[in-house]
Amino acid sequence: MPVTVQPRGDFALVVVDNPPVNATSREIRAGLIDAVAGIDADPGIRAAVLICRGRTFIAGGDVREFDAEPVEPHLPDVVARIEAAETPWLAAIHGSALGGGLELALGCRWRVASADARFGLPEVTLGLIPGAGGTVRLPRLVPLDLAARMVSLGEPISAQTAYESGLVDALIDGDLEAGALRFLQNAADTPPRRRIDRPTTDTGANDFWQAQHATAAKRHRGQAAPGLALDALRAAVEGPADDALAREREVHLQLRKSQESQALRHVFFAERAAMKPPVAAAPGDLASAGVVGGGTMGAGIAAAFLDAEIPVTLLERDQAPLDRGLAAVARIYAGAVKRGRMSEADRDARLARLTGVLDAGALAGADVVVEAVFEDLGVKREVFRRLDAVCKPGALLATNTSYIDPNAIAAATSRPDAVVGLHFFSPANVMKLLEVVKTDAVSPWALATAWAVARRLGKTPVLSGVCDGFIGNRILKVFRREAERLLLSGAHPGDVDHAMRAFGMPMGSFEMQDLAGLDIAAAMRAAARARGEAVFAPISDRLVALGRLGQKAGGGWYDYDEGDRTPRPSDTVAEIIAEEAAKANMPREDLNAGDIQHRILKPMVEEGERILAEGIAQSPSAIDLVEILGFGFPRWRGGLMYWAAANGGQSPKFNLMGRR
Ligand code: NAI
Repeated sequence: MPVTVQPRGDFALVVVDNPPVNATSREIRAGLIDAVAGIDADPGIRAAVLICRGRTFIAGGDVREFDAEPVEPHLPDVVARIEAAETPWLAAIHGSALGGGLELALGCRWRVASADARFGLPEVTLGLIPGAGGTVRLPRLVPLDLAARMVSLGEPISAQTAYESGLVDALIDGDLEAGALRFLQNAADTPPRRRIDRPTTDTGANDFWQAQHATAAKRHRGQAAPGLALDALRAAVEGPADDALAREREVHLQLRKSQESQALRHVFFAERAAMKPPVAAAPGDLASAGVVGGGTMGAGIAAAFLDAEIPVTLLERDQAPLDRGLAAVARIYAGAVKRGRMSEADRDARLARLTGVLDAGALAGADVVVEAVFEDLGVKREVFRRLDAVCKPGALLATNTSYIDPNAIAAATSRPDAVVGLHFFSPANVMKLLEVVKTDAVSPWALATAWAVARRLGKTPVLSGVCDGFIGNRILKVFRREAERLLLSGAHPGDVDHAMRAFGMPMGSFEMQDLAGLDIAAAMRAAARARGEAVFAPISDRLVALGRLGQKAGGGWYDYDEGDRTPRPSDTVAEIIAEEAAKANMPREDLNAGDIQHRILKPMVEEGERILAEGIAQSPSAIDLVEILGFGFPRWRGGLMYWAAANGGQSPKFNLMGRR
């Protein structure tokens, strides 16, 4: 039984046991309603304790149920029933009390929690607002600004913050059940008022609400739900609670059908499915890692392992680059400490697990080695020949190459079955995407281990077949090509960037290149041309030839004033564009933002379709994840392929404009 009532002296435990996360499925809701009735009917029970088995308290609703019409009993009714119970309830919380879980806890008279518990209303991350009183009860318990942050940003808070803000009444050391019962011994006969009956005193001034809306709009750009969550909260503190409850529920149910929520739910399920390895094989150990090359990527990859508490041996070719690599890792953590994201002790613990070496022999004991040396087949093959000679049997040998065929690298070893591509994205310790590139000879064991690496590092793995650029960079190339073509047709860099931002990208492609430096893409073009490929980038090539490498050079696609990162239209660039457009003899067009979005995205979708047809990606969702997690495609649009399908495939009529 997912809900059982167990006597404990003159108290009753209401135990929820619905693995994996005790989601509030229909059975749970029905079980709780029955529990309230049973407990109220028993005069011997002074108070009830709502507690969960497994690794967490109720961590949310059952997202699968959101696709269907809601079935009784509805969660708001369950919360109301618990709140109105004759015998008072206490929620004893460990793990996460999220969404519907927190709303249930808010219906209880008291909440106590383990020190490691987390609390949140993350509905906005699924394009929803709370639907069972979260926006109404929370501000009757915690300060309004905290409630506003929780409902509109969707980020959880710690048990300590929950305690300090009044959300929980006590933190419990040691056994939660025993602690909860101890708490009730003193408290059970003087329960606090029902939350819903409590008047709110702080209703917030106009500028408070404006500031909250501005923050939410910035953090969840392009999404409707965060603003609606704030509207619900405001209604809940300004007007009668009953009206606010009804309105919150109505908006919640409407949003379940919104494109935004459906897209976000698609991504939620895609991410979960991605964590499942594509093969049924036992992974190898992950007790230690080697990283070869301590440049931009190597340093970030080392940090990603260190963050997962896996010791790293960093191999470089010389003392100077080794020192630079070690310093780069130290800088990553210095930055984290400076921003208050990491304690000095945590930084020291991480750095203590990092060893720099110049001799590959030191990698003999590593369970996994990731190579991130220069993008050069000869150099990489030499590295793998050496790794093959020194690494223990059963070590996973991975290459972070962006464009080189990993099969050609694997062939340098006597164990191509142990070689995969692990393509990280920059900065490697931050970006969630990990393309796992499947070589021809790769063994199920190696793939399973690649998945284990992703899991340990907190990355989302996506399987890619071998092709130029794999999934992500192959589509990026189309993006860049089309963006440059648009300039030849009469659009300005600012028009293109504006259109892509309006679509929901965090940044336009030209601003992005100025930020990262045009030399990176130039080096990739040079390498591609050296491989005999035709690369279309006449304007980029001229900017690079002029030394306009981006912000660091004072100019790139835009001009920059000294010490100011604001992009300003450049006359020099306009002239170059005009000259190249004349040479290319392309018709000049008057392009609005919708045209620009369409001209860029349609070829990207078509490239995605080719990637699927060739079997490079296993599913459209795989491409969606690559674009969202690796390239900033707006999550609330569901990813490139989902978005195209949801908007009528390739029909030119689909609504490409940003919604705000
Ligand atoms: P980088 O030039 O910053 O670093 C390469 C490092 O490898 C240098 O520190 C160099 O001293 C070292 N190295 C060269 N030969 C070596 C050898 N035989 N043994 C040990 N160390 C050696 O290059 P970056 O940008 O870090 O790229 C590394 C790899 O990652 C390349 O294959 C690149 O295509 C790939 N990549 C790069 C991304 C990026 O955004 N920069 C993104 C994803 C992959």
